Amino acid sequence: MTTTTPERMATKRSLATKLGVVTGFEDPRAALEQYPTPPDLAAHVVHLADLHDDIAGRTVVDLGAGTGMFSLAAALRGPARVIGVELDRTAVTTARENERRIAASAPVHWIQADATRPPVSFPEPATVVMNPPFGAQDGNRNADRGFLVTASELAAVSYSVHNAGSRGFIEAFAADNGGEVTHAFEADFAVDAQFDHHTADARDVDVEVYRAEWA
Ligand SMILES: C[S@@+](CC[C@H](N)C(=O)[O-])C[C@H]1O[C@@H](n2cnc3c(N)ncnc32)[C@H](O)[C@@H]1O
Repeated sequence: MTTTTPERMATKRSLATKLGVVTGFEDPRAALEQYPTPPDLAAHVVHLADLHDDIAGRTVVDLGAGTGMFSLAAALRGPARVIGVELDRTAVTTARENERRIAASAPVHWIQADATRPPVSFPEPATVVMNPPFGAQDGNRNADRGFLVTASELAAVSYSVHNAGSRGFIEAFAADNGGEVTHAFEADFAVDAQFDHHTADARDVDVEVYRAEWA
């Protein structure tokens, strides 16, 4: 387990603070599960990836990039390049606007495409970060499977956010696809009310974050 010094904690906090300028989805689509990743969670995941030397100098691919939260967190940590893949054109526009707010020096490329069928291949094994749809809207359990397939094909290592109770599924998927889960932790995912079916102003959803290495 990596030791986290107070200095590193401050760095993680400062990353979360910088991500505070990232705006949410302009017109969120429930069918695509357009929930913005909370800045604290994105900062935590990218900070952890940085401690594992999985960001600096690497190609980072964000599958289901949405507002660009993960892409921009990575862009602030010295990657060779960041590629954000997002299906929804409006979200890509929002991500580009957020990129201007963050003003990271790393090149960020936005691709409007289906992350389960990426239209390009990547020059080298990448670090994938992703917060895929969980399948909560249509009862499509393991909707994140297609994203994991892409990660297994193009990543040397991946960091992914899944709904609580996914451990068996993720470990079995990794074992069947030349991967291995190396780290896992639980986290809260604060969801603001943004769709008609939301009855409370905000709620915390239990999620799990996995780091996996791929052969
Ligand atoms: C839970 S959100 C996470 C968004 C992003 N991490 C953020 O913080 O803004 C899931 C994202 O995946 C996108 N998405 C859903 N299905 C997709 C697909 N097949 N290909 C690419 N993106 C997809 C949604 O539009 C949404 O932006």
